[in-house]
Amino acid sequence: MPCPARVAGAVNVKIEPAERIKGRLTAPADKSISHRAAILAAIADEPVLITNYLEAADTNSTLDAIQQLGALVERRDEGLMVRGVGLRNAQAPGAPINVGNAGTLIRLLPGWLAGQEGSSFELDGDESIRRRPIDRVAEPLRLMGAQIEATDERFAPFTIEGSRLTGIDYVLPVASAQVKSCLELAALIAEGSTTITEPHPSRDHTERMLAGAGVNITRAGDALTIGPTDELTLPDQIKIPSDPSSAAFAIAAAVLVPGSRLLVENCSVNWTRSGFIKIAQRMGAVIITELEPPPTDGVIAQSEPVSDIDVTAGPLKPTTVSAEEVPLAVDELPLVGLMACFAEGETRVEGAGELRLKESDRISAVVTALNDLGGEAEATDEGFVVNGHGSLRGGRVDAAGDHRIAMLGVVAGLASEEGVEVLGVEAAAVSYPGFLNDIAALR
Ligand code: S3P
Repeated sequence: MPCPARVAGAVNVKIEPAERIKGRLTAPADKSISHRAAILAAIADEPVLITNYLEAADTNSTLDAIQQLGALVERRDEGLMVRGVGLRNAQAPGAPINVGNAGTLIRLLPGWLAGQEGSSFELDGDESIRRRPIDRVAEPLRLMGAQIEATDERFAPFTIEGSRLTGIDYVLPVASAQVKSCLELAALIAEGSTTITEPHPSRDHTERMLAGAGVNITRAGDALTIGPTDELTLPDQIKIPSDPSSAAFAIAAAVLVPGSRLLVENCSVNWTRSGFIKIAQRMGAVIITELEPPPTDGVIAQSEPVSDIDVTAGPLKPTTVSAEEVPLAVDELPLVGLMACFAEGETRVEGAGELRLKESDRISAVVTALNDLGGEAEATDEGFVVNGHGSLRGGRVDAAGDHRIAMLGVVAGLASEEGVEVLGVEAAAVSYPGFLNDIAALR
């Protein structure tokens, strides 16, 4: 049985306004990179030690999944030792793979499993996962020869009968790192090469790891071409950097609470994850760091850049976030909405229809949360508009099972006039189990 998105023992917490946010933070390990490290280690032939793996609900689902597929995972003091099964040897598990709440897992894994000739797999997840369409990966995989049967043709639970795959030339209708990564995994096992073109660049962690593993992967403009491989040779050790999407909550709090000063240490500043910092800087936030510059054409980096991020509170002005920026800040857009309440005037987020397909319909969840707290926000088909008045009253936010809405509520409480009661704050554990403790230590 899938677990419900809101567990019975939901935890409610009242967050009082903060006098200031002050101190140092090491944010938890990156969720996207952790998922990828575990999946690629399962695909590899040689053992890989993953250090600083994210211990959170989503990434634990990935460890469970790769073990069901035959990989061995050993928890050691220094990290996770993963012994993979090899590119073509995923074992068919006797039971469905339950991805829990992990959208990245349910979209990436089919890329590998679709090419396991002669084996079949069933994937399922929680209520939220069952509402999120998987046709965005199923359609291109079927073009490669995959056999996928989904509930109502586009939802979990779904089955995959492993079959022979052939490379394709595919143009993604929307920029999505999850879809891109799924096809990149399928490309490793397909006959012939696969070319994937994105309308705008999205996070590039899979490309970096594949390039580092010696896979034949090249970029020309927005098109990536990946050739098949016999085996994946990862480095002996993969170190996961801190997650900029998790760090963004404390960064937003430090930007919004007057008198704050925060140092986020050793965080990923990968350019495909730096959209939020750039948007915040454009709104007037004083954030000092060295972001990675976008690469010159054709270059695929093989490592993940990190830097400290120094944040000071300051007045904000409104801005417009364009469709091109959305994939570079997709998980932080709720925070842009919150910051917009503290700027004077209209902030627009455009071309962000993808938000409707996240752990919740995040356009509607953000607009509801901000309005419930005394803000002035309106949904559009492809984003939202916030009319900021320089402050936010406070009130109550229901996380409704969405980890990023739970953490948004907490940050809103810190910066609000009257505090915020967050219903279902335990959802934060999907990506950031220590969030409330980390925030308490910064007050
Ligand atoms: C992710 C990609 C993003 C993001 C999600 C994690 C990933 O989704 O929202 O939290 O790890 O690839 P899309 O790029 O598919 O929109």
